[in-house]
Amino acid sequence: MKLIAAVDRNWAIGKGGQLLVRIPMDQKFFLQETLGKTVVMGRKTFEDLPGRQPLYGRTNVVLSRDPEFSPKGIRVARSLEEALTFLRGVPDDSIYIIGGESIYRMFLPYCSEAEITAVDYRYDGDRFFPDLDRDPMWRLTGESDEETYFDLTFTFRRYIRTAGVGEDKALNQKI
Ligand SMILES: NC(=O)c1ccc[n+]([C@@H]2O[C@H](COP(=O)([O-])OP(=O)(O)OC[C@H]3O[C@@H](n4cnc5c(N)ncnc54)[C@H](OP(=O)(O)O)[C@@H]3O)[C@@H](O)[C@H]2O)c1
Repeated sequence: MKLIAAVDRNWAIGKGGQLLVRIPMDQKFFLQETLGKTVVMGRKTFEDLPGRQPLYGRTNVVLSRDPEFSPKGIRVARSLEEALTFLRGVPDDSIYIIGGESIYRMFLPYCSEAEITAVDYRYDGDRFFPDLDRDPMWRLTGESDEETYFDLTFTFRRYIRTAGVGEDKALNQKI
């Protein structure tokens, strides 16, 4: 499974239930990566999608404990275990964990790659992605040239999990 996120210098990802910034080139990258795949998100991230509609052309899995929550066109998982049970039937490289913070943290041990858009700016965020630069299990293996969007600069980074994924997969099998 892969994580995909846009983070600021402090690994902030959102504030007040919304994204910190929308960068067209990043949105295009997100679309290219996830189209035709399975995307996994938390209920709050789903609520922030344009028109509260599922992402088109993708299987949308949304985690929520709320029994009343069952919008059309999405697969609701009431727990991590339920999500993992469903995802077991999906090829591992077709699964993208798309946020927010609670979902990134919960699925991190099951993921082997992370596609991170690193925005060189410090926002006043209230939600964060785990800092992969400080996590010895993860290694930065590639970074694009610097891109710009008005006065913002950003790069596309790829991180690979270097240790522990085998153990986590074993855990995955047990659930
Ligand atoms: N920069 C980026 O790339 C990016 C990407 C995505 C999101 N974001 C941002 O991240 C923020 C949202 O993150 P968040 O952590 O507040 O919310 P979230 O992870 O999107 O959603 C949290 C919700 O997911 C459900 N949930 C969590 N764990 C669960 C479990 N074990 N079983 C069942 N349901 C579970 C619960 O829904 P119920 O309350 O319905 O039970 C919970 O309230 C927003 O600001 C958003 O814009 C940023």
